[in-house]
Amino acid sequence: MKSGVPGLDEILNGGVPKNQLILITGTSGTGKTILGTQFLYSGAKDFNENSVFLSFEEPSDLIKENCKQFGWNIDSLEKQGKFAFIRYDPYRIEDVFDILESTIREVGASRVLIDSISALGLYVRDKTELRSMIYNLSRILRKLNCTAMIVSEIVHGTEPRISRYGVEEFVSDSVIVMYYERIDSVFNRAMQVWKLRGSSHSQKLHPYNISKKGIFVDHLSEAFIKGT
Ligand SMILES: Nc1ncnc2c1ncn2[C@@H]1O[C@H](COP(=O)(O)OP(=O)(O)OP(=O)(O)O)[C@@H](O)[C@H]1O
Ligand SMILES: [Mg+2]
Repeated sequence: MKSGVPGLDEILNGGVPKNQLILITGTSGTGKTILGTQFLYSGAKDFNENSVFLSFEEPSDLIKENCKQFGWNIDSLEKQGKFAFIRYDPYRIEDVFDILESTIREVGASRVLIDSISALGLYVRDKTELRSMIYNLSRILRKLNCTAMIVSEIVHGTEPRISRYGVEEFVSDSVIVMYYERIDSVFNRAMQVWKLRGSSHSQKLHPYNISKKGIFVDHLSEAFIKGT
């Protein structure tokens, strides 16, 4: 599938793999929410692939407001029935997958963003349970022919790992890691395809930018960041 993020398809060997669960991970402020939203927005607007955004974090009003600065009018897509938000109230976590499934059916969605999957971790006893919860989620999404991005975080100061709980990358089909690191006095953005199930992919770390049109990946250049 076309990601709608310039340069990203190139480092993914042609596009986002269909019907997969793709983990988007990185430290805070790297642009995970923007990347995921760009994937949804461009799908619904340009490729007739309707979208569902399940947010455990920011309310939809705030997300929509942020999107306006990139020229993405989500209200209009919502009115046309091409885009739906689920702002999840985390009291009845056991219902969340049912709500997701019925919303996907309602809008006929083929693209899904879950921001972030870490919220599920708060409601499980251990990593095994989280793992089976994400696995269950991926089974539902596959059944519905959806391609989903799920967001997790790299938390500084903990033992080095690429997701909050250290299980998300194993249950996901593919993984994209986003970095925002300082070299001397300048912060640099870079991303890397960590794994891509069933396909080869760029092995390099690529610089990316967030501009007023959203995210742009420089697939022709290589980034150098310490510690990666
Ligand atoms: N219009 C813009 N132009 C350039 N950069 C922007 C613009 N809007 C946001 N940004 C950058 O994007 C970052 C936020 O992106 P986003 O919310 O997607 O991050 P995130 O990885 O989801 O963070 P978190 O883990 O906290 O949810 C900001 O810190 C800022 O650097
Ligand atoms: Mg975010």
